[in-house]
Amino acid sequence: MESDKRVSETHIMVLPFHAQGHINPMLQFSKRLASKGIKVTLVIAATSSSQSMHAQTSSINIEIISEEFDRRQQEESIEDYLERFRILASQGLAALMEKHNRSNHPAKILIYDSVLPWAQDLAEHLGLDGVPFFTQSCAVSAIYYHFYQGVFNTPLEESTVSMPSMPLLRVDDLPSFINVKSPVDSALLNLVLSQFSNFKKGKWILCNTFDKLEDQVMKWMASQRPLIKTIGPTVPSMYLDKRLEDDKDYGLSLFQQNVDTCITWLDTKGIGSVVYVSFGSLASLGEEQMEELAWGLKRSNNHFMWVVRELEKKKLPNNFIEETSEKGLVVSWCCQLEVLAHKAVGCFMTHCGWNSTLEALSLGVPMIAMPRFSDQTTNAKFVEDVWQVGVRVKADEKGIVEREEIEMCISEIMEGERGYEMKRNAARWKELAKEAVNEGGSSDKNLEEFVAELLCSSD
Ligand code: UDX
Repeated sequence: MESDKRVSETHIMVLPFHAQGHINPMLQFSKRLASKGIKVTLVIAATSSSQSMHAQTSSINIEIISEEFDRRQQEESIEDYLERFRILASQGLAALMEKHNRSNHPAKILIYDSVLPWAQDLAEHLGLDGVPFFTQSCAVSAIYYHFYQGVFNTPLEESTVSMPSMPLLRVDDLPSFINVKSPVDSALLNLVLSQFSNFKKGKWILCNTFDKLEDQVMKWMASQRPLIKTIGPTVPSMYLDKRLEDDKDYGLSLFQQNVDTCITWLDTKGIGSVVYVSFGSLASLGEEQMEELAWGLKRSNNHFMWVVRELEKKKLPNNFIEETSEKGLVVSWCCQLEVLAHKAVGCFMTHCGWNSTLEALSLGVPMIAMPRFSDQTTNAKFVEDVWQVGVRVKADEKGIVEREEIEMCISEIMEGERGYEMKRNAARWKELAKEAVNEGGSSDKNLEEFVAELLCSSD
């Protein structure tokens, strides 16, 4: 009885960076905490058009700290944009804390996105413990950590770089920000390296991955920082262990989606016959690349469903949608999980954002990796060479992936012998992902331990 009371009185605040790929994993982890009886408040900023933000989750509280935070303005530098978010989130959190302090449920812990390292100081200032949450893979964290410590530098002296517990990496396999080519890259490099400014502080570090997926590198990271723990994949429970009832969507979308159109269309297609194409919430393709991809999809002669965000649509070749309407469906956003889980989907052409990669692994869908920037290049390397669940496209000397290459990769996955092998591997990762979050699995045990520790510290 006493312990139940302690559980229900323990309150955690969760602060993701304002991007879909950061909100999804932290929201999903919040739901897992809530399922253990912990009270969770997810703190987010809204866009100025907040009607486009759809929140449907009842197990946690969502607090909006500003109705005015919008995407980065064209003339705004990355630093100014991040500073705008820092000021807003700090003020919002302080006000929220004050409100909750007056209630029976003052918060004890702030779980913050690791790209917001200032939140550690803020947490301490507000009398909370800070716990960073890494939304990228452990391999990517390890690479940044080595770079942060000056273990290697760019440009690389050799054609590959060797790091403990990792395959040899070529320059194209490293996260793109490490190869600084512009002031934007350098601002983003500072941002990703800043994740390690608190690395030796606090007790816990949470990572959205699972032990078997990144076994070696996870062990190496734990040798540096024992309480670094895997809690992933943070994919809604109904796609994995099914222990959280009705949990089949993340529950908070910054984009309008039309689920019915996508699923109705997929329902009319044969098993494994559709190529699903999406580059996540941030990456954008140049006009030439968009054109090559469009004609590559058409040439492949497979059915395809392509997510082209509203702002990207103007880059589609003239009449492409009309000319391909027999074979293809272009949508501005979809419920990716439902699509990946649909039996008609045969492969996923992806930018290899970490959430998309984990979702494809968790749902057993082979991938065509077409990374754009950030950690996606490293994820693509692991997809192809380590987990062996996909092929990575090759770009020409201008960095463009040509239509013939796209057609060839699609055919390799959809029809070739190698595609068959990758489907088998993907099915195995699906089982291992499920095992990790299921009762007694590695991520589940870490979650239980984290909750037990929270309860001890709230005594
Ligand atoms: C980014 C980075 O790319 C990623 O690697 C990082 O670690 C987190 O932030 P993003 O580029 O948007 O995110 O890609 P991804 O990580 O794949 O996240 C996109 C999310 O949006 C996924 O959870 C995916 O399911 C969802 N999505 C995408 C939809 O729900 N519908 C869509 O149509 C497309």
